[in-house]
Amino acid sequence: MRAFFSKAPATTSQTLDTENIPQHIAIIMDGNGRWAKSRGLPRMAGHHSGMKTVKRITMAAERLGVKYLTLYAFSTENWKRPKAEVEFLMKLPQEFLSIELNELIEKNVQVRMMGYKGDLPDHTLHAVEEAIRKTANNTGLVLNFALNYGSRKEMIEAVRQIGYSVQAGDLQPDEIEESHLANHLLTAGMPDPDLLIRTSGELRLSNFMLWQLAYSEMWFTDVYWPEFAEEHFHEAIQEYQRRARRYGGL
Ligand code: FPP
Repeated sequence: MRAFFSKAPATTSQTLDTENIPQHIAIIMDGNGRWAKSRGLPRMAGHHSGMKTVKRITMAAERLGVKYLTLYAFSTENWKRPKAEVEFLMKLPQEFLSIELNELIEKNVQVRMMGYKGDLPDHTLHAVEEAIRKTANNTGLVLNFALNYGSRKEMIEAVRQIGYSVQAGDLQPDEIEESHLANHLLTAGMPDPDLLIRTSGELRLSNFMLWQLAYSEMWFTDVYWPEFAEEHFHEAIQEYQRRARRYGGL
C-alpha cells in the first residue's frame, strides 16, 4: 500500500536517539515525474517541486546534526532523457542556489559536488562552483550534490589512476588494497553512507555509490520525492536506529 504523507506515522525528532544519528545519509530522490503525472502536471513541475524537498530535507538534516547529506540529482545516464527535460534539470541547481545559498551559508552548510564537471553546461557549473567557493570554510552539514554522477564511471576512473601508479612503478599489483580504490573515488575523505534512502517505491541502486554502499542500511518508501516530508526522513532514521549493524561479523 502506498504510504502517502497523510498516512505516515507522526515521527518527530523527539522520538529519535540523538546519540545515533547517521553521520552520512545518501538519497536517491525518485518519483518526481510520477508525482507530476498523478496530478496531471508536466514532469518539470515534479522536478521543481522536488527542488523544494531538497531544501526541506537539507534543513531537517542540518537540525539533526547529520554530517553528510549526498543527494542524487543527475546521473551519467540521465542525459538520455528528452533535451527539454535535461535542460530543465540543469537549471535547477542554479535556481536552488540563487534562492537558498544565503541561508545555507547562515546555517554553516558546506556545498560540494560529486560528479563529472566537464559535461555540465557553464551556467550550472558556475552556480555550483560559486556555492562551493562561498561555503568552503563552513564546518556544518556537508551538502553533497551527485550531479552527472555514475558509480561505474567513478570506479573505472579510480582503477585507471591505480593503473598509472602501477605503470610508473609506484605501486605493485599485490599491494593494492581497499584504501587505494577508496582514495581515488569522488568520495575520497568522506565516510561511507550509513543510510541510503530511495523514494518512489523503486528497489534498485541505479548506479549510485556501488562501492560506498557496501555496508549501508537501506530504507525504501513508496512516497514520491516531492511529497517526502521531514516526518518521512525521521521515520527512515528511526528505522535505521532499530537496526543492528554487524559489517559481516556477529
Ligand atoms: C528522478 O525522478 C529524479 C531526477 C532524475 C532528478 C532529481 C532532481 C531533483 C529532485 C531536483 C534537484 C534539485 C537540485 C537543487 C539539484 P524521475 O524524474 O525519474 O521520476 P519518475 O521515475 O517518476 O519519472
